[in-house]
Amino acid sequence: MVKAVVAGAAGGIGQPLSLLLKASPLVDQLALYDVVNTPGVTADLSHISSIAQIEGFLPENDGLKKALTGADVIVIPAGIPRKPGMTRDDLFKINAGIVKGLVEAIAETCPDAYILIISNPVNSTVPIAAEVMKKAGKFNPKKLFGVTTLDVVRAETFVQVHTGEKDPRKTVIPVIGGHSGETIVPMFSQAKPKVNIPEDKLDALIHRIQFGGDEVVEAKGGAGSATLSMAYAGFRFTESIIKAAKGESGIVEPTFVYLPGVEGGEAIQKETGCEYFSAPVQLGKNGAEKVENIVAKASDYEKKLLQKCYEGLKGNIEKGVEFVANPP
Ligand code: NAI
Repeated sequence: MVKAVVAGAAGGIGQPLSLLLKASPLVDQLALYDVVNTPGVTADLSHISSIAQIEGFLPENDGLKKALTGADVIVIPAGIPRKPGMTRDDLFKINAGIVKGLVEAIAETCPDAYILIISNPVNSTVPIAAEVMKKAGKFNPKKLFGVTTLDVVRAETFVQVHTGEKDPRKTVIPVIGGHSGETIVPMFSQAKPKVNIPEDKLDALIHRIQFGGDEVVEAKGGAGSATLSMAYAGFRFTESIIKAAKGESGIVEPTFVYLPGVEGGEAIQKETGCEYFSAPVQLGKNGAEKVENIVAKASDYEKKLLQKCYEGLKGNIEKGVEFVANPP
């Protein structure tokens, strides 16, 4: 039996993500939580003839606690998205408090569940979640993940013009670091199968992956950021977590984790100076089993990108840790 919860389920990401989870044969029970509109979204999805039993909750009548009770996986896309001209860091003020509140409830109600954070800025909201769990004495670093899959999905898609591969998913590209601008580092040197990108095209390709979110923000002209592609990416990552928990082996996903708590993480921390980092993580029955020290394999070109990544990432991480240590 797998119970999945979406917190922020009535939003732009939350709705299509809930649809995909409702349709998935891997989910037995689905709880939707949001501060608005969950009754409507739940009623709508409940007519789909799939396995998952669905329930919706609002904050009233202990709704959050009821949604979380018995949860195995909680996916969090709650919070405000970007408008043109905004960086992910601009979202911190509001989303930090939202994530903190939700994770406090998780620590109390279902501390053993997998926590998948989509809410931006991921580079800070994941440290916030970790600090909240640590404070409650419930932190399991193997079960806390920042969802960076959209960066992987974008890399697979945007490199297709150079590979000629019909199915973009067949090209595996590790995208590492963090989840905003220059902290996003695609490692084309480690692509499988090998890809050949003309030298004069590489800068533009990297930039498009790092700032691909802006294309959507601008195209939506103030109506939000990526929602449908994010729902796809969030679902893909959630599916991997559930499949691994059910015993499927060989599942590896780049994801943003707390390095000291995952096997192999210390080597990356030593090399990067960052406590949190996104790198290919081997998923297993208990969550993050092992993280690959892929930074050690970086080409000279990628090393330069990584230097910029570390600078930005450290500040983002500290900001999250500080938010819980000394609340504003
Ligand atoms: P949205 O505004 O459409 O939806 C957010 C939902 O969260 C709303 O329904 C709102 O009512 C709900 N919400 C607010 N406070 C809440 C609380 N305390 N508890 C539960 N729900 C609450 O925004 P959208 O487009 O769905 O984006 C959500 C977040 O995901 C944003 O922070 C955005 O930046 C982030 N995002 C992350 C990506 C990633 O790759 N990790 C990619 C795209 C967006």
